[in-house]
Amino acid sequence: MEIYVYGTGCGAGELTRETLEPTRIAAFVESQPTRETFLGRPVISISMLAERTVDLLIVTAKDAPAFPFSPEKVLYLKNHLALIDRNRSYDAARAALGDAFVERLQRQEVPVRAPLWDDGSLAAPGDWVRYKTLEAISRALCAVPGAMAELGVFRGEFAAAMNALLPERRLYLFDTFAGFDPAEAAPEGLAEAHENASAEAVLRRLPRADKAVIRAGLFPATAAGLENERFALVSLDADLEESTLAGLRWFVPRMEQGGYLLLHDWNHPGLPGVREALARYEAETGQHLAGVPLCDITGTLVIPF
Ligand SMILES: C[S@@+](CC[C@H](N)C(=O)[O-])C[C@H]1O[C@@H](n2cnc3c(N)ncnc32)[C@H](O)[C@@H]1O
Repeated sequence: MEIYVYGTGCGAGELTRETLEPTRIAAFVESQPTRETFLGRPVISISMLAERTVDLLIVTAKDAPAFPFSPEKVLYLKNHLALIDRNRSYDAARAALGDAFVERLQRQEVPVRAPLWDDGSLAAPGDWVRYKTLEAISRALCAVPGAMAELGVFRGEFAAAMNALLPERRLYLFDTFAGFDPAEAAPEGLAEAHENASAEAVLRRLPRADKAVIRAGLFPATAAGLENERFALVSLDADLEESTLAGLRWFVPRMEQGGYLLLHDWNHPGLPGVREALARYEAETGQHLAGVPLCDITGTLVIPF
């Protein structure tokens, strides 16, 4: 079994300390070798590697170039630094290093790299950062009690993700399912684009529809009767200023400690009312809601409690 390791830095040191005896490594590889040996093994260039038979190349550095053989034989230990899954297959690594190594590696990668849902039944088209953040947050909520809610559900894409990631939580879904409050001026095209939704269609796409509670109609009137509810996770995605402000007024006092409110579109240049609503809420309550801005497509603000 010919195993090569790309890189002679900290990553390679860690790998040899924890998993792979240097004696099992045929050679270390560098783009431009700066030494002849590392940990007692030869250091060769990529062009020299092209002449060898490679069963597995383990990449321990971040800045790996393209390699002159099948990508199936390359194992990227720093896979999690890329937004794409660079490990096309773990077969070569499994054959060389065994199941336990591969399983340990995959566990480390899961929260940030792997597909959102293993069975492929749900996708996160477009906004990888937004959905991956939701996944990471949902893991952080295991010790936080409380329900979940979304204000602004539309066709239920994000709601389905919440429902899949925290399947045991009650999920309140607030939307008119017929577009925005006519009293609120919506940017051209936005109102028409949101007229055509249906609560039944949303329920059909939820993996745990039994946990969903549909509150159809104009918020905040539709929250009547839920005053004593507490929330671990709220997605506030109402697009427009007055409804966003209504959402903040209603949900913020009901957030559990350790919970999160995701203020979608906070950094969206086309929807300035979202940011304005937060500023108005802070001014009227005197409470500063320090959040973490995401680099997702429309600039979600993650507000922790
Ligand atoms: C951008 S869409 C939500 C998209 C959804 N969160 C997703 O990620 O798939 C905004 C939704 O907010 C709803 N909405 C806005 N203001 C509302 C209000 N006051 N009451 C109920 N629904 C409202 C609209 O009907 C629209 O469907």
